[in-house]
Amino acid sequence: MWSLALLFGLVVCTLSVPTGRNSPAFAIEETAEWIRYEGYVAETHNVVTHDGYILEVHRIPYGRFQTASTAKRPVVFLMHGLMAASNCYILLGPQNSLAYNYADAGFDVWLGNARGNKLSRRHEELDPDNQKRDFFDFSFEEIGKYDVAQMIDYVLEYTGSEQLHYVGHSQGGTAFLVLASSLPEYNAKFASVNLLAGVGYQNYFPSLPLRTLARLTNTIYASAVALGLVEVAAPSFFRRGDDDSIINAVPEDEYLSELSTITELLRDGADDSDNSNMFGGAALKQIAHFGQNIRDKTFRRWDYGLLENRRVYGSVSPPVYDLSLITSNVTMHYTVSDVLLDERDVLAMVNDLPNARARKVAREDFSHLDFVAALDAKELLTDYIIESTVQIENLRSTGK
Ligand SMILES: *[C@@H]1O[C@H](CO)[C@@H](O)[C@H](O)[C@H]1NC(C)=O
Repeated sequence: MWSLALLFGLVVCTLSVPTGRNSPAFAIEETAEWIRYEGYVAETHNVVTHDGYILEVHRIPYGRFQTASTAKRPVVFLMHGLMAASNCYILLGPQNSLAYNYADAGFDVWLGNARGNKLSRRHEELDPDNQKRDFFDFSFEEIGKYDVAQMIDYVLEYTGSEQLHYVGHSQGGTAFLVLASSLPEYNAKFASVNLLAGVGYQNYFPSLPLRTLARLTNTIYASAVALGLVEVAAPSFFRRGDDDSIINAVPEDEYLSELSTITELLRDGADDSDNSNMFGGAALKQIAHFGQNIRDKTFRRWDYGLLENRRVYGSVSPPVYDLSLITSNVTMHYTVSDVLLDERDVLAMVNDLPNARARKVAREDFSHLDFVAALDAKELLTDYIIESTVQIENLRSTGK
């Protein structure tokens, strides 16, 4: 489990801000300022979910050298991955970032933030610091079914649009799969969907050591919750308290110390190269949910244990997310060098989705994070995505 946290953490934290840029490294909290600094208009919207989370959504309403006009622009909504934030779609600067490229191509661009990350660490009633356990009691299911659903409803209503184009990286893909399978009426709201290494099926999770560790998911997660370690973000998360006896009392102590060592390393690395700007934070339960799915080789809802499952779901095992209910037009982009997602799982998902296709990135060593971090993502991936979105828009406007 801790190594899972490590892996996902590494995936996000070791991302180096691409070289060759001379923009200042803004903190995640200053994403809107960053967008303005790079020459675009940026708006900040707050979306309050029905369960009280206050989500920060950014909008780039039009391109750098365009002006506000009454002409309606097609809407695109971009959703970040695990432990990341909306800024992942602008990190490559005006020339190469998906969000800017979309704005310059004539789109109205919206960037979501999941509950619990640095920009959406707010709630109408719960205090994320003093009521951590309640605040951080969510996984990617709530992010899909509540956050993404309500951000999309907000954007469609605000812009007066019936549909939008969705792009999700990693867990941003998971959230889409959860939403469109759990609440299939949402499929009609997506004009197109592009998932970048969207994680769903876990039959062939690539890392053997992590698969082995995933078996301990429930025990370790329960111990972590008992210790109040429910957030993967604040620096204090990994800091051992003064009262070592509490931590020493649990059998997972060795994992905790392993984790704190690792985290020191990560944080040092972050300080050196400003990678902290990529670390948006998350609930530990999100990682534990992936851990359960890796352990069980399945893509299904949170596992409470036999008795509680029976009470909550009416069955001893959690229900699977039924991908055959996803009728949206989906393209799944993947790479053969992804440490978190195997090609066979992508192809199996595409097979089960009624209206989907797979597209392999044409660079063998393209990584899970390269989808948002590599300078050649533009020529290998995002130019294609924007072009296909434009084509779909043209089809729509000619009434086909
Ligand atoms: C679905 O998406 C693909 C790839 O972007 C595109 O070629 C196709 O025209 C789309 N179909 C519809 C009905 O929009």
